[in-house]
Amino acid sequence: MQHERASRTALLIAASLVLLHHDAKYSRFVSKASADLCARVLEKHSAKTRLFLKIVRQIWFRPIAKFVERITIPGILLHYALRKKYIRRLVRSALANGVAQVVILGAGFDPLSSELQREFPTALFWEIDHPATQRHKVRACSEIGIERVHFVAVDLSAAGLDREALNSDGFDPAKRTFWIAEGLLMYFPADIVSSLMKTLSTLSAPGSEFAFTFMEKQGDGQLRFDSQTAMANFASIRKPNLLTRGYADAASRSSGELREVNLLSLYGRGA
Ligand SMILES: C[S@@+](CC[C@H](N)C(=O)[O-])C[C@H]1O[C@@H](n2cnc3c(N)ncnc32)[C@H](O)[C@@H]1O
Repeated sequence: MQHERASRTALLIAASLVLLHHDAKYSRFVSKASADLCARVLEKHSAKTRLFLKIVRQIWFRPIAKFVERITIPGILLHYALRKKYIRRLVRSALANGVAQVVILGAGFDPLSSELQREFPTALFWEIDHPATQRHKVRACSEIGIERVHFVAVDLSAAGLDREALNSDGFDPAKRTFWIAEGLLMYFPADIVSSLMKTLSTLSAPGSEFAFTFMEKQGDGQLRFDSQTAMANFASIRKPNLLTRGYADAASRSSGELREVNLLSLYGRGA
């Protein structure tokens, strides 16, 4: 990502969530509160994103968006909706079963923590993101009174995970944690992913969970979005404290800890 500017992909995802919320077929995947937070970020970010927000809310724009999606990355909108739905389900289940801490790495403008802090009033949430992106989220959240989310601005590719900042905000490594890295790891080289995974392991009490999305290298060795209609690039690992190998060697696929989930089969083609 460019180091001065907010992540364009995070802005695009925020606009996609607003679009999905206004689309009768997908609106059940994106709550009004989520769409409102994304809209607030877009409204505040710049004149361009303000204009884009106006456009994505128009009915006439929907067929255009579908056409652009079809000729770029078919299925990507549904992919965003389903992966968010699935991650929310995993986190809610962990919180209902006694996990008290949720840390979202590369959170972007994801509305998950703002939604869950209302539903789980005793849980604590951290969002870790690049400062260039996070300052826009902090501004939007402070205006709508999101209180129990701690924001930690850090460049994960340079400084790694800022353990001190987490700890000084009350993070307790002796408590079970739910970690999330959605749409993040593919930006990092294997050694960074590996060291991040090790750090998460050392900060995780037994019973912690880590949910992440990943992209697999194509035949030519490149990471690239093709069609997202297969929707299979979601995986979750239980007990990250057992995980010492990184993403580069397929994130412990051989250890049996990795569960891959085909979201389309889970939620159905009509999702
Ligand atoms: C594709 S967006 C995903 C946002 C969000 N997780 C979602 O799925 O809606 C990637 C996110 O990773 C963050 N990111 C990228 N490089 C980063 C870095 N070096 N350090 C911290 N965050 C980074 C961006 O700021 C952005 O928020």
